[in-house]
Amino acid sequence: MKIHGSIALVTGANRGLGRHFAQQLLDRGAVKVYAAARHPEAVDLPGAEPIRLDITDPASVAAVAKAASDVTLLINNAGVSTRENLVAGQEAGIRQEMETNYFGPLNMVRAFAPILAAGGGGAILNILSVLSWFSPGGMGNAYAASKAAAWSLTNGVRLELAAQGTQVTGLHVAGIDTDMLADMDVPKSDPADIAKAGLDGIESGALEVLADRDTVDVKAALSADPLSLYPELAAK
Ligand SMILES: NC(=O)c1ccc[n+]([C@@H]2O[C@H](COP(=O)([O-])OP(=O)(O)OC[C@H]3O[C@@H](n4cnc5c(N)ncnc54)[C@H](OP(=O)(O)O)[C@@H]3O)[C@@H](O)[C@H]2O)c1
Repeated sequence: MKIHGSIALVTGANRGLGRHFAQQLLDRGAVKVYAAARHPEAVDLPGAEPIRLDITDPASVAAVAKAASDVTLLINNAGVSTRENLVAGQEAGIRQEMETNYFGPLNMVRAFAPILAAGGGGAILNILSVLSWFSPGGMGNAYAASKAAAWSLTNGVRLELAAQGTQVTGLHVAGIDTDMLADMDVPKSDPADIAKAGLDGIESGALEVLADRDTVDVKAALSADPLSLYPELAAK
């Protein structure tokens, strides 16, 4: 799908990766970019159209689908990381991650599928993670579970929407230099590069974009014994 001439909606467009997506969509000739945010007054992107959206709130999603009924490209970017672990972590955080990272994109896909169909098919880009395929151990396992669910969602809706001509792309990435990882000293990609990789993937019709080396390596390791990804579990 061509970005030029598209009408795009980006969730979580007020900061981080989402802001880069919205900016680059404008740069690449999208005719309209809805910059969706829980607090639209925080969107400072000339040329974008701020719109209020909480992806976990069905009424908010329905209102946005009504107001933005001309969308041809949906970017499910908004996400949250509470860093709870699964066994002893706070259940509220575990549920928030599933509500935001899984049910949020699902709410958006269900609301926008008829809109995309009416516009001739269009495209959806879901922002996933290397953690769709790998649990980091000490913290972030609940986040990983939510991104695994979002990966499966991506595969499922791709099949379900193929008949109406909607292209569905999943973008998997390891660390990105945004607020989400600000306090962690780990390798991080420039969010501008990741947004570009995602938009290039939409334009090339990719089913999946693996945005960095770690992500490529982890996906490749899935066909090996699990101990290759989790060597700490080897018997001593
Ligand atoms: N940073 C990384 O290392 C990394 C790696 C792999 C994948 N990702 C994924 O990349 C995407 C973007 O993350 P980021 O790094 O840009 O994180 P970020 O800087 O923390 O931004 C997250 C964005 O999501 C929005 N958001 C959270 N909950 C929402 C809700 N219920 N409704 C609407 N918007 C909501 C936030 O809005 P508020 O400003 O209102 O909080 C913010 O705009 C996420 O899906 C994340 O899981 C990130």
